[in-house]
Amino acid sequence: MRLEGKKAIVTGGAGGIGRATSLAFAAEGASVAVVDLNADAAQAVADEIRAAGGTAVAIAADVSSEPDIERVVATAQQELGGIDVVFNNAGIIRRTTAVETSVEEWDRVFGVNVRAIFLMCKHVVPIMAAAGGGSIVNTGSGWGLKGGGQAISYCASKGAVVNMTRALAIDHGPQGIRVNSVNPGDVDTGMLRDEARQLGQDQAGFLAEAAERPLNRMGQPSEIAAAVVWLASDDSSYVTGSALVVDGGGIA
Ligand SMILES: NC(=O)c1ccc[n+]([C@@H]2O[C@H](COP(=O)([O-])OP(=O)(O)OC[C@H]3O[C@@H](n4cnc5c(N)ncnc54)[C@H](O)[C@@H]3O)[C@@H](O)[C@H]2O)c1
Repeated sequence: MRLEGKKAIVTGGAGGIGRATSLAFAAEGASVAVVDLNADAAQAVADEIRAAGGTAVAIAADVSSEPDIERVVATAQQELGGIDVVFNNAGIIRRTTAVETSVEEWDRVFGVNVRAIFLMCKHVVPIMAAAGGGSIVNTGSGWGLKGGGQAISYCASKGAVVNMTRALAIDHGPQGIRVNSVNPGDVDTGMLRDEARQLGQDQAGFLAEAAERPLNRMGQPSEIAAAVVWLASDDSSYVTGSALVVDGGGIA
């Protein structure tokens, strides 16, 4: 059990990658606060963990809101008894060019994908520092490391996640806090199907195209979760500020 006794927060914990990681954290011995905008789905994941004998609490929250983040951190600390690991994973995508993107959509994407990570770190770092350290993992994307079509706000936000992660690692390494990003390629989740809808494309064709990469298939949420477990655990004790790509070779 690589996360025995650890207390973890997972945002977007009801979605594809977040759910798989919440389950993987619990299977490795962590207590998990499953945070999501979708209260019922977050509760279902927490129930699934408890049914398997683990410890979990569901917290409904909008991660772009500072009062919500403060409540999440306070609740997790109270219910779990501390915070050792945070997986900042909630994210949204808008498949539009700069010309097609409204200012409101741009701000929403940055609110969920970028501001939320800043807010979580602002409130959780003092707790981790006081406890002697911790591990923070932020979900970037292959499109945080290279560009992609019709996704201007998403590409900009994920680039920000990757570099914000490095800056956080520099600032808080001396406090024993490691901060890394995990950068998935196309993973079989609701988000990917939603992209096909947003682009008005046939879903089967869109998913077939997503599989075009050296390993010839999309990723599964559990394959991202396995990388996040490693970054969260002491097995990666000398790894900080890194951008780990988990994408079947997509951007190789
Ligand atoms: N699926 C992919 O191909 C892929 C590739 C690269 C990166 N990612 C990233 O992985 C992360 C998880 O994506 P996924 O594929 O599991 O998507 P998903 O849509 O299945 O899950 C995202 C979850 O985040 C939650 N969420 C959205 N906005 C929120 C908010 N404001 N506050 C709290 N929760 C909120 C949603 O309710 C959902 O449960 C995202 O950051 C995404 O950008 C996904």
